[in-house]
Formats: sequence, C-alpha cells, structure tokens
Amino acid sequence: MASRARVAVLISGRGSNMAALLYAAKADDCPFEIALVTGDKPDAPGLALAEAEGIAVARLSAKDLGKDVFFDTLDRTLRDSGVEYIALAGFMRIVPESFIGRWTDRILNIHPSLLPKYAGLHPQQQALDDGAAVSGATVHIVNKDLDAGPVVRQREVPVLPGDTARTLADRILEVEHALYPEAIAAMLDRADL
Ligand code: GRF
Repeated sequence: MASRARVAVLISGRGSNMAALLYAAKADDCPFEIALVTGDKPDAPGLALAEAEGIAVARLSAKDLGKDVFFDTLDRTLRDSGVEYIALAGFMRIVPESFIGRWTDRILNIHPSLLPKYAGLHPQQQALDDGAAVSGATVHIVNKDLDAGPVVRQREVPVLPGDTARTLADRILEVEHALYPEAIAAMLDRADL
C-alpha cells in the first residue's frame, strides 16, 4: 500500500479512543498510522498503553510549561515526528487559534453528541436534560469555534429510559471507537495527499 498518513493522537486521560485508533491502524489496509501519542498531562493513563504497544510517546506537561510554551513545544514535537494530522481524543484543553492556524484542516476532534447539539462540557447530561430520544457521536474538523468545525462523520445512539449520564456516555463511547477510525479514513479519502 502507498505510504500511510501519519497521525498523532492527543489525550489527557484514559485514552480509549486513542486505543481504538491504534488498533484500527494495525489493519493492513488502514490508510493511517499512529506516529505519536502525546498530550498535556505526562501521567495520562493512556500513554502507558501506547508505550506498551511500541508507539512513540511524548510526555509533555502543560502545567509545568505554561500554555504558550506548551503549544509551541507541542508543535515542534509533532513536526519533529513527521506528523501530518492530529486527532484529539479526550484532550481536555482549548486549542489556541495560533496553533490551529498552523494546522489548518489537519486537526480532528471527537465529541459525544450530534453536533451542533450539546457542544461544550457534559454533552450526555445536556442530552438527558433536554429529554432527547437520540444522541450520538461526531467527528469534526477543529476550527476556532469550539465544537463547531465542519462535520466529517456522525452516528446516532439512542437514549434509553433510565439512562444516566454515565450509561449514555458508555453507549456513545462504543460507537466512538468505531466512528473515529472510519472518519479519519473518510477524511483522508477526500484529502489531496
Ligand atoms: C470521549 O467521550 C470523547 O468523545 C470526549 O472525551 C472522551 C474521551 O474518552 N472528547 P477516552 O479518553 O477516549 O476514553
């Protein structure tokens, strides 16, 4: 197969979407590879899994570096690793416009709702509070407007009677794990590489 797109995954926590991307990338016909896993928290649990899988990991601390130095360091680290696309996967930090401008149309995010519905924090609780019968997951391009960039792919998930934010989050997460690799492949198919 032709060379695969080099994707970095940015995490802040457990990294289950990162794991889904990593395992999807093991398939022979996957159009991307995970070139680097990094994020803003050097002790994010997901980093250990990436390391155990032999993926390059950069342990950066936004807290220690401060916001501006952190994003400059991140940019340099990504470029040094030959990264072409960035997949945010539970990366719990607002990405500044200056950084987005250096990676225009090359940063993706996954959000556990059918955007533009329930952007921002606690989208599962927002769906419950709204009495929604359906929620879901969205993969979108990151631009300067929070959770509002062009949608690459979405999938619906039903809200069930008795759901809590936790049970709904768990059901959506299962869909996220399939959706994210599919969305990256779809985006690469459209991109002029
Ligand atoms: C996911 O629900 C994702 O949609 C949201 O944050 C959560 C991250 O979970 N942005 P994980 O770290 O990938 O398990």
